[in-house]
Amino acid sequence: MNRIFSGVQPTGNLHLGNYLGAIRNWVRLQTDYECIFCVVDMHAITMWQEPTQLRSHIREVAAAFIAAGIDPNKHILFNQSQVPAHAELAWIFNCVARMGWLNRMTQFKEKAGKDRENASVGLFAYPNLMSADILLYKATHVPVGEDQKQHLELARDTAQKFNGDYGVDFFPLPEPLIFGTAARVMNLRDGTKKMSKSDPSDYSRINMTDDADAIALKIRKAKTDPEPLPATLAGLEGRPEAANLMGIYAGLADLTLDQVCARFGGRPFSDFKKELADLAVSVLTPIQDEMRRLLADTGAVDAALRDGAGRARALAAPILREVQDIVGFVRP
Ligand code: TYM
Repeated sequence: MNRIFSGVQPTGNLHLGNYLGAIRNWVRLQTDYECIFCVVDMHAITMWQEPTQLRSHIREVAAAFIAAGIDPNKHILFNQSQVPAHAELAWIFNCVARMGWLNRMTQFKEKAGKDRENASVGLFAYPNLMSADILLYKATHVPVGEDQKQHLELARDTAQKFNGDYGVDFFPLPEPLIFGTAARVMNLRDGTKKMSKSDPSDYSRINMTDDADAIALKIRKAKTDPEPLPATLAGLEGRPEAANLMGIYAGLADLTLDQVCARFGGRPFSDFKKELADLAVSVLTPIQDEMRRLLADTGAVDAALRDGAGRARALAAPILREVQDIVGFVRP
């Protein structure tokens, strides 16, 4: 059976990039895979998180998963900290992965910025915890946005080195699943940067919780160029903002970028932006309504997380035991 593992950090507002690049694809994968979806709270604290906010973000992300269509009964939904085996396997991987590998991780460089000496040790070792997340369940496929590709390659290298060092064929090499046009949703104010939770300008992203007015305003203010929209893909060359907005439309409408070019080619941005805003509102509103309903009483979300953690612990335990045997730990 092919098994999926994927996660989202509860570090702030979920945005359209998280939805189109990850969560929406997960919903579809539920029919063909056994899925494990995780709110990676241990990853979140690699950067400072205010505890009260972290608590509500964990529940918000879990509610967003369920509201978007993840079924926590058929599949597993849990928060990472409740399955200690993630931390245990991550430690073993700290001893398998090499400093040189981690030094090449672009996410660490971006997040640590110039003040590397002051970054947490956890931020540096972050990719090893991510490898542990995936390999603890011997997941075969990992649906993510484009920005996680490098981490996935590291997880494969770590699995391969572990297998090689210990002379076993134990961990599968997990395959990334990266989907189409919305795998990299860009910043609304600068089409060359990715949409992210950490950008200081809220106008740079559409949050999953933005109301219809906020969505329309942000799309109206989104950066454009003076030309009308192109009718072909080739016409998007050198036009990052047009490519991004048309890509978002394609993602939301489930069309190819080609189809969006054919539909809007020659039209001015002003027309297109109105249609894009209406579409975004129509896709996000039902999810937001369901999130609000779920968060009004956190009992149901907590129950889903608790149940998911129990099932995740049960799946992880025998795999971790085997790892301990392979490594040579005594289990008296
Ligand atoms: P995180 O929390 O930054 O993002 C969650 C998911 O959203 C995708 N994503 C985007 N996709 C398209 N365009 C964007 N602008 C955009 N921004 C974010 C991410 O690619 C991701 O799929 N390290 C991971 C969390 C993680 C994980 C894992 C993922 C921890 N353990 C194991 C997979 C498997 C992260 O920081 O994602």
